[in-house]
Amino acid sequence: MTATVASANLYQERVNPQWVRLLDVLQMNAQYVRCEGTELYTVDGRRILDFLSGYCVHNAGHNHPDILQALRDELDRRGPAMLQSHVSELAGELADKLCRRAGGRLKKAFFCSSGSEGIEAAIKFSRAHTRRSGLLYTAGAFHGLTCGALSLMSDSFWRDGFGPMLPETEGAPFGDVSALEAKLATGRFAAFIVEPVQAEGGLRLPPPGYLEAAQALCRRYGTLFVLDEVQTGMYRTGRFLAAHHFGVEPDMVVLAKALSGGLVPVGAVLMSDEVHESVYGSLDRAIVHTSTFSENGLAMRAGLATLDVLERERLGDRAAAMGEYLRHRLRGALSGYEMVKDIRGLGLLNGVEFNAPKKLALRVPFETFGRIHAGMFGQVLVMRLFRLGFLTQICGNNFMVLKVAPPLVVKEREAAEFVNAAKDVVDIMHASGTFWSEALGLARRVVQV
Ligand SMILES: Cc1ncc(COP(=O)(O)O)c(C=O)c1O
Repeated sequence: MTATVASANLYQERVNPQWVRLLDVLQMNAQYVRCEGTELYTVDGRRILDFLSGYCVHNAGHNHPDILQALRDELDRRGPAMLQSHVSELAGELADKLCRRAGGRLKKAFFCSSGSEGIEAAIKFSRAHTRRSGLLYTAGAFHGLTCGALSLMSDSFWRDGFGPMLPETEGAPFGDVSALEAKLATGRFAAFIVEPVQAEGGLRLPPPGYLEAAQALCRRYGTLFVLDEVQTGMYRTGRFLAAHHFGVEPDMVVLAKALSGGLVPVGAVLMSDEVHESVYGSLDRAIVHTSTFSENGLAMRAGLATLDVLERERLGDRAAAMGEYLRHRLRGALSGYEMVKDIRGLGLLNGVEFNAPKKLALRVPFETFGRIHAGMFGQVLVMRLFRLGFLTQICGNNFMVLKVAPPLVVKEREAAEFVNAAKDVVDIMHASGTFWSEALGLARRVVQV
């Protein structure tokens, strides 16, 4: 047995056997040996193009040489790491760069190690600032799986069995200004926490004027306006923050994922001076909210190097241009198919939405399939694309939307290759019984797993 096979067996035995079995059933349990830019190479010599980016972690592309070098340099300098008793200059430098780019009210940063941890901090900070306890979120949101973040998500798949959730958390429909006002007018809410573009909710773009109105209502009723930019931030949508497309100035923004180039865990909460003052406003409160790995040297160094790469290579502009190109090509290739409902996105955060077919010949297998497992249709799509050499996923809270989010370094040729593959898969789905018989077999196996 080779060392890698033995390690994979240990993973199955000691970490998460169901994950291994699920990947096996989907025929996606590849062993990757080298990942660069958009390309993932497997031990058996396959080249897979990444159109998922680890859910928007790999904006700068996999293993960018400059970020790797910055990390090596940081290790080599043998500087202070997690002394818990010093002032980190790197954190100061990164906070300054992030706040300058974010602009508006965002003047201070708190660093942590994940998106969920950032959301937890935003919950605490908004309560400290407003002295209110209520938290308002949008239906279909994804904010993370720690208890506080999970309490801001309506989807029962994630919540069931883990309750009770945080009290005084309530949802409002995404995009509905009247429903939002009715909730905010009660004066109970410390924060309204919202993704500017709902990613896992199905690539839902805010209706025109929604975020602007939400901000105005938050100001009117004394609620903090908090944007979760964990997926949308760091130039993913073409601008540094998605907020910049809509001209809003949030009181807090949560960043994570792409902030450290996909190599070191990191998260950041950017906030106004007023919010910061409410949390850390006196000497005895200097460390009232912190964490062991906050401001760690590798994460801070990776963050600085990642910003540098994203800007030197003009990857925001690239995300905007390639996003346009990809949507245009996808629309051209897929719009005629009855199961393709919509193709939408912002920058390189895109989705292809499918709907149930009307034709009887397709409707019968589709419905049988949906009764076995709601997510299975999308998984077969993902599996078929993988077979053609593309890594994708469906949205976590909307199984009818295929996410299309390659690293921002994606080339036009690669985007065109993806469109051809997507067309082949959608074509088979509409034209041949094979797609559906294979899908049914797969669904049955998953249910047995
Ligand atoms: C929008 C959004 N917020 C928060 C999170 C949680 O981030 P993490 O997985 O780093 O805890 C995620 C994770 O996918 C996310 O997509």
